[in-house]
Amino acid sequence: MVNDVTLKNDWHVVAKSEDVTPGKVLSVRLLGEDLVVWRSGDQVLAWEDRCPHRGASFAQGWIKDDNLVCPYHGFAFNNSGNCVHVPAHPDWIPSTRSRACVQTFHVQERYGLVWVCLGTPQYELPAIPELDDPSYYKCFFGPIHYHSSAFRAIENFLDFNHIPFVHDGRLGESNHATIDDYKVKVNSDGIHVTDLSVWQLNHETGQGEYVSASYDIFRPLTVCLRVRSKVVDEIMTMFFTVTPVEEEKSIVWRWSCINYADKVPEDVFRNLAHIVFDQDVAIVESQRPRRIPLDLEANFHVPSDRSSITYRRWLKQQGVTFGTV
Ligand code: FES
Ligand code: CO
Repeated sequence: MVNDVTLKNDWHVVAKSEDVTPGKVLSVRLLGEDLVVWRSGDQVLAWEDRCPHRGASFAQGWIKDDNLVCPYHGFAFNNSGNCVHVPAHPDWIPSTRSRACVQTFHVQERYGLVWVCLGTPQYELPAIPELDDPSYYKCFFGPIHYHSSAFRAIENFLDFNHIPFVHDGRLGESNHATIDDYKVKVNSDGIHVTDLSVWQLNHETGQGEYVSASYDIFRPLTVCLRVRSKVVDEIMTMFFTVTPVEEEKSIVWRWSCINYADKVPEDVFRNLAHIVFDQDVAIVESQRPRRIPLDLEANFHVPSDRSSITYRRWLKQQGVTFGTV
């Protein structure tokens, strides 16, 4: 079991809600652990993928009468994880019930996603008003797989210095690379980056303009970015969360919400986002080490790296170890 208590007690996305369909056993991996996820009534269950009888995987198992059946000896486990049927001994009732029970985890569904906590949940998921606001057009991206630490993927999302280069001609322009000073504040809700002015190509016109950006880094792997036009009432909100699958493997899930959908056709918006994701995946996977260094001496920094310096320092204070060096 993972010994990173901070990440263990946090919520992580393991699947889209729509992919956990009745009658289906889904195999996922979180923090280096194999899990099975399945739906019982209106509840989603996440279990350790190990049968307590002889340790077989449930991945090839099936659901019968709202019980998950282990494929090895056909024992059935109810939605509390208790063994309720042993085909070899139909009348046998387990006397050591605690050992005849699967290890189960906390689950919640929110924002169309299934979130799992392997430990004891310490935090609520952040409220993202735009996701509940019908006046925003919403577009979902993910799963997007990174062969890298989840923190590398988040740091890339926080990093606006790369936009003029990695996304030259798509989101930014290399001849508009300067970054003015901005504010970074840390409180009990996480890190808040404000007053960022970023040169961005306009989705509709293709012309460059300065936009205002702000980040709320609620949890080590859950962030919200808001980008506002300085001239018209146009806002783009991105809710970005990353699953720490392994120390060097992660999955990105992103909701984008815009209040100017009438001006940008969906296919244009989606296509651009996928090109930008491909560019980010390629650059992040090229970073070495794949685990994020939390020792600030490991790299050199420039003034506009302040958000990422704060992020690395904050991760260290939070006691995060999985996926870091
Ligand atoms: Fe699962 Fe025996 S290992 S029923
Ligand atoms: Co990028």
